[in-house]
Amino acid sequence: DPHQFIAAKPTDLRAPCPGLNTLANHGYLPRTGRNITVPMIIQASLDGFNAGVDAIQPFAKFGLLSSNDPTTMNLDDLKLHGLIEHDASLSRLDAALGDSLHFNEQQFSTLANSNPGVDYYNTTSAGHVQRDLLAQSIRLNPTQTNSPKEFKIRTRESAFYLSVLGDPLTGIAPKKFVQIFFREERLPIQEGWKKPKTLITAATLGALQTVIVANANWTATQACETEILGP
Ligand code: HEM
Ligand code: MG
Repeated sequence: DPHQFIAAKPTDLRAPCPGLNTLANHGYLPRTGRNITVPMIIQASLDGFNAGVDAIQPFAKFGLLSSNDPTTMNLDDLKLHGLIEHDASLSRLDAALGDSLHFNEQQFSTLANSNPGVDYYNTTSAGHVQRDLLAQSIRLNPTQTNSPKEFKIRTRESAFYLSVLGDPLTGIAPKKFVQIFFREERLPIQEGWKKPKTLITAATLGALQTVIVANANWTATQACETEILGP
């Protein structure tokens, strides 16, 4: 099976993104993590996650700015702080506080322990996790950045994990699947996960984001211009 899980080798490059890393660990993207194009990311996201072009292309094009090459990126280029990479991540330390590239179990514990008493995460718990991690980041990081840009990216990422590991329409995702995705950067196929039957689109993500935002109790620390990511 060309898409079996193989953990990254020490020479392979990986991103601060559990989604792209999982695609690479299953061979939907080059396992080396090198010389990756926007069309490769679009195809891999469709094949691996049933995520459609309008959900992926803006992020992929934006991410290409992290590379010096005009058409390809290496996954670790994406750690460039302030492009997509931001503070108050779900599973990585703030860049000013440590390793913003690799998974960190302590940072992940807020999400891992959220929504107590049930075996799933949802848009409500995802909003609360964003609220709590932002408060932690503001408390610990004197150079903390929290503008509408960071908040939109963080909220989109929350909608992504609920959609890929759960249901893109309800935003309900089994805890076990989400935890394997973050901790091992693996699709939990042997645990019973199946690729979403519903295509993940900008519209399905946007609908989940509306509920996440309502539960995140967010206010900006800095302002920014409205970013235009497409026509
Ligand atoms: C972060 C999922 C596509 C670049 C994240 C996070 C999730 C996620 C859940 C949050 C990690 C955390 O906060 O610890 C996904 C999924 C994708 C996808 C399911 C579907 C294919 C992309 C694409 C790019 C990208 C296309 C750009 C080429 C990033 C970067 C981060 C990130 C740079 C780090 C942000 C940070 O936490 O500081 N992604 N992503 N992702 N993603 Fe993705
Ligand atoms: Mg980060």
